[in-house]
Amino acid sequence: MYFYKVINITIVGTGNVAFHLSEIFLEREGINLMEICGRKNNLPSYFNDKINYSNNLSKLEKSDFYLICIDDDQIENISKNIKIDKHSIILHCSGSTSINVLSNNFSYGVLYPLQTFSINKSVNFNDIPIIVEGNSIESLNKIKTLGLMISDNVLKASSKQRLAIHVSAVFTNNFTNYMRIVADEILKSNEIDTDILNPLTLETSNKLKYLSSKDAQTGPALRNDLKTIKKHLNLLKGTGYEEIYKTISSKITKLNNEL
Ligand SMILES: NC(=O)c1ccc[n+]([C@@H]2O[C@H](COP(=O)([O-])OP(=O)(O)OC[C@H]3O[C@@H](n4cnc5c(N)ncnc54)[C@H](OP(=O)(O)O)[C@@H]3O)[C@@H](O)[C@H]2O)c1
Repeated sequence: MYFYKVINITIVGTGNVAFHLSEIFLEREGINLMEICGRKNNLPSYFNDKINYSNNLSKLEKSDFYLICIDDDQIENISKNIKIDKHSIILHCSGSTSINVLSNNFSYGVLYPLQTFSINKSVNFNDIPIIVEGNSIESLNKIKTLGLMISDNVLKASSKQRLAIHVSAVFTNNFTNYMRIVADEILKSNEIDTDILNPLTLETSNKLKYLSSKDAQTGPALRNDLKTIKKHLNLLKGTGYEEIYKTISSKITKLNNEL
């Protein structure tokens, strides 16, 4: 494991991930958040106002790590425009972007926090899996050291494995949340308060602490309860959600044979 006196970090980007990482870096002893670099004239007001801010990528202070927290398709472009010392490490924090987009640098890698981040919701970093990758053993050890300063759960994965983790995260979080958007819309159009679903939504994930996802599955599709499925499809007519209902129900019914 690598030992630094103090780790100096510069963040590029001012969005969700940049904000949450800035908060945890400010909190942790042994980490010095040197500055944040963004495109805006000023650092957005949700950031701590003591953070140094620059909007000039070509005039950044020397740092141990440069963490690129921007849109996936812009990472390579920023990596090519940022001039860093060969002892510094440039990182991105994307689940689906290969480490190779940073290969114009001497030392580079990935620090991907496997969590959903929104500005208005705080997160507890201690148990967030931090997925790391480095272009060399030396870079990897330094990135692991940084990861362990913000979480107890640091895992090494290749770019291909990280892509699989990211697809899984899309299913478990993005798609699940979208289902709740659909559910809310159905309730609202029947003049029912959407909060009624909150205990069920919480139990859906709490259950997984005790049961496997397959064992936790319930519902009319698993039971192949065709009468109920037909009633649901009648109710959904014209909403545009019949196809999603049918596709997912048929996958769940097939699960029945495996259980
Ligand atoms: N959100 C999550 O839950 C999550 C979780 C894990 C990893 N990630 C990864 O973290 C990274 C950032 O995601 P995010 O959710 O923080 O995104 P975000 O909130 O949309 O913020 C994106 C940031 O990128 C900046 N940006 C976009 N194009 C740029 C360019 N050409 N030059 C300079 N800056 C540019 C934006 O600047 P402006 O504000 O000026 O437009 C903004 O500061 C992505 O790689 C994403 O895959 C996200």
